[in-house]
Amino acid sequence: MIDIVPMTAEHADGVLRIYQQGLDGGHASFETAAPTWAAFDESRLPAHRFVALDPDGTLLGWVAVTRVSPRPAYAGVVEHSVYVDPAAQGRGAGRALLRALIASTEAAGIWTIQSGVFPENEASLALHAAAGFRTIGVRERVGRHHGAWRDVLLLERRSPVVV
Ligand SMILES: CC(C)(COP(=O)(O)OP(=O)(O)OC[C@H]1O[C@@H](n2cnc3c(N)ncnc32)[C@H](O)[C@@H]1OP(=O)(O)O)[C@@H](O)C(=O)NCCC(=O)NCCS
Repeated sequence: MIDIVPMTAEHADGVLRIYQQGLDGGHASFETAAPTWAAFDESRLPAHRFVALDPDGTLLGWVAVTRVSPRPAYAGVVEHSVYVDPAAQGRGAGRALLRALIASTEAAGIWTIQSGVFPENEASLALHAAAGFRTIGVRERVGRHHGAWRDVLLLERRSPVVV
């Protein structure tokens, strides 16, 4: 069993450790170093961040969102990140975290969740497809990662219930 609970400051060390592990894997993000907790905390919306816990309290993964724009037209559009400890992958934590995020954002009237995913990140693409995300398209050579240009797939899930 995996518990999904709101992320708080007590989870900071585990969240940033798992974030760094994902970055070190090379296919999670253009970032190469996890931020400080203060920077993470300031940029992620407090109402839509969760952690996955084992019954013994071990932190397995997390999900969080940022706003994509200050413009009122995009008030219901957020961009998310989801990271699961490599030792805990394949057990349903990612799916459970996305399910919790979709529920909390829809309850708050947020209509679109988007994310950029490297084409090589097969696990993330499969997870998001299973959760109802569609691929908008390929952003070609949109950024440099360790000196090399990389494509990014833009994914989004438009809520069917926020109308
Ligand atoms: C992507 C990630 C979050 C998936 O988390 P997870 O807990 O391992 O995923 P789950 O166990 O919940 O799997 C849910 C679904 O995702 C897909 N999936 C997960 N891992 C997969 C893999 N290695 N290959 C193919 N599909 C995979 C499957 O469809 C799976 O459903 P199934 O078990 O019924 O087949 C995890 O691999 C991760 O943290 N990767 C590093 C960080 C990262 O890349 N984050 C995403 C940035 S865009």
